[in-house]
Amino acid sequence: MKLIWFNSIDSTQDYIKSHIKELMDDTCVLANVQTKGRGRYGHVWFSSLEEGLYFSILKKNLHIEPFSLVVGVSLFKTIKTLYGIRAFIKWPNDIYVLLEKPRKVAGILVEKIKENTIIGIGVNLNQEDFPQDISDRAISLKLFTGIYISKQHFLTTFFDFFYQDIDYFNSHGFEDFRNIINDNLLYKNKLITANDGKVSGILKEVDKDGSIVIEKDNRLISLNAGEIESMMPKETW
Ligand code: BTN
Repeated sequence: MKLIWFNSIDSTQDYIKSHIKELMDDTCVLANVQTKGRGRYGHVWFSSLEEGLYFSILKKNLHIEPFSLVVGVSLFKTIKTLYGIRAFIKWPNDIYVLLEKPRKVAGILVEKIKENTIIGIGVNLNQEDFPQDISDRAISLKLFTGIYISKQHFLTTFFDFFYQDIDYFNSHGFEDFRNIINDNLLYKNKLITANDGKVSGILKEVDKDGSIVIEKDNRLISLNAGEIESMMPKETW
């Protein structure tokens, strides 16, 4: 694996996109700070603090479906192993912890350009505070656990799981990943809404193809992409 480490860049994801032809398979681009970090659905990914971990990986000719869920499991395992905490996977691939309510500690953005897959990962690693508009939804692993972990240590642990999981998927398929996701699924058996209120119901599980199954009026609805939110903000967790 080749690592390119910037102090500051617009977005590690966009760096890979604009240099895709000259970059080798398994290149990882990391930045201490991003000026235009972005998340799924055009959301801004807050990246101005050096204590956060922001990196993207280029994989060429990867044939894994549903890949973003598999990477989510690798990230989940990294966090569980390094911190020994109860963490949750928010479908499709964010990692959350519970402190009074669910708070996001890591997010994944997977983009495909022809035969190339770019996997962008943002982890709230050692930040001590967040901007006010996200401070009730985000938390860093350091704030949650009191444990400081270096970016290098986090990355090496993540890459061990990442490559192990790709190999494991290639020989065993999705089923064991699906079990890990279902055992640690945020909002499982709770009332959720998906895709800006277009769908709502009880979140049952992640299916064999990575879709979520939502129960509504004794009917099962399957959703293979989108964003989900809890409909019970005052819920006790
Ligand atoms: C999300 O939760 O919506 C995904 C967040 C992904 C953020 C990472 S940070 C490194 C890479 N560069 C970006 O601009 N985005 C991803």
